[in-house]
Amino acid sequence: MTDGLRYQTGFGGHFESEAVPGALPKGRNSPQRPAFGLYAEQLSGTAFTAPRAENRRSWLYRMRPTADHPPYEHYSGAALFSPPLERGPIAPNRLRWDPPSDLPDDCDFVDGMTTMLVSRAPEELTGVSIHLYRATRSMERRLFVDADGELLIVPQHGALAIFTELGRLEVAPGWVAVIPRGMKFRVDVGDEAVGYVAENYGAPFRLPDLGPIGANGLANPRDFETPVAAYEDVDGNHHVVQKYLGDLWTTTLDHSPLDVVAWHGNLAPYRYELARFNTIGTVSFDHPDPSIFTVLTSPSETPGRANADFVIFPPRWMVAEDTFRPPWFHRNVMSEAMGLIHGAYDAKEGGFAPGGLSLHNLMSGHGPDVDAWRKASEAELKPVKIDNTMAFMVESCWPYRPTRFAMERAQSDYDLAWADFPKAQLP
Ligand code: FE2
Repeated sequence: MTDGLRYQTGFGGHFESEAVPGALPKGRNSPQRPAFGLYAEQLSGTAFTAPRAENRRSWLYRMRPTADHPPYEHYSGAALFSPPLERGPIAPNRLRWDPPSDLPDDCDFVDGMTTMLVSRAPEELTGVSIHLYRATRSMERRLFVDADGELLIVPQHGALAIFTELGRLEVAPGWVAVIPRGMKFRVDVGDEAVGYVAENYGAPFRLPDLGPIGANGLANPRDFETPVAAYEDVDGNHHVVQKYLGDLWTTTLDHSPLDVVAWHGNLAPYRYELARFNTIGTVSFDHPDPSIFTVLTSPSETPGRANADFVIFPPRWMVAEDTFRPPWFHRNVMSEAMGLIHGAYDAKEGGFAPGGLSLHNLMSGHGPDVDAWRKASEAELKPVKIDNTMAFMVESCWPYRPTRFAMERAQSDYDLAWADFPKAQLP
């Protein structure tokens, strides 16, 4: 994308930026009188005492403090965003969804948010939810802030211009954006924008460890882009919608809260182009576990077990010899929510369209459908490039519960010839 905006590169680095020269204090965080009468405010994304390598915070120098707001009241819009959950039993079946044709119409990014899958709850400080959005209008004098989680935004159709407290970033399909927990932003769209949001209640996303892969590969730090400081000095009513402990709340400010003139720190929004992912796979036989496709991970408190992994299935060469090349049949303690940005996913020959969703909750048996299995079993194993596709998964150690909206639209995929595998013939 050539959006003309400026970015700082690197992942989790300690950035600094000022939109007005002299706004950023030198040598201290909270001077007695910040320049120009700005207010110094710290935004922490981790506990003050988190280990240094995990500690995330930024200092914001703004025209008015965040504390300058009237009380929040319950927000009555966006009925499909974070609705009460059905707590009934969940059958151990695979589920999938076509792109819903009845997402909210004529609305902005907030009111166009529809919650599909939820694991755990915000007050547990762990778990992740999956939402779909469809926005046809820009957020005019409206801001959103999510106190419940960090937002990973995955556009599927249409570009988003995101104006955050720390600056502006733009993303289109093929890119993702991450907005820290508690950061206000608004989203401007063109005609229509559709996509996915993973709302991460747990530890902020980070790059996965690389182990024997070495110092390079998968998502490389330099490819992450964080905006430079940008602000607007606009008076007049601005409506803030805040997601807080699962509910939506609203208040009206007499100014735009996107008034941060300078900032420094390592808690910041960022974007990433998925095409830059250095995909790694076998050059001999079998294929590695799909963790090899992890872009970002939010660890749980159990080492090696992710609260949420953001995993992509990008274009790649398949060269393995004497190998069943699609994802193998498996069962797993993790729960897999999968989306498709464009193209086709190699394990699902039919019934999985871009903008759709699938769910394989823990221990549900899954793998390629019968057509994909047959084709892969009979294929001549030449080097083949899987091209023009980008699927992704938000995998969690916590099982997902579909919302009522999702449950009412869920398709059983058992009519897609899944159960039609020929029986093995013993000698
Ligand atoms: Fe799986």
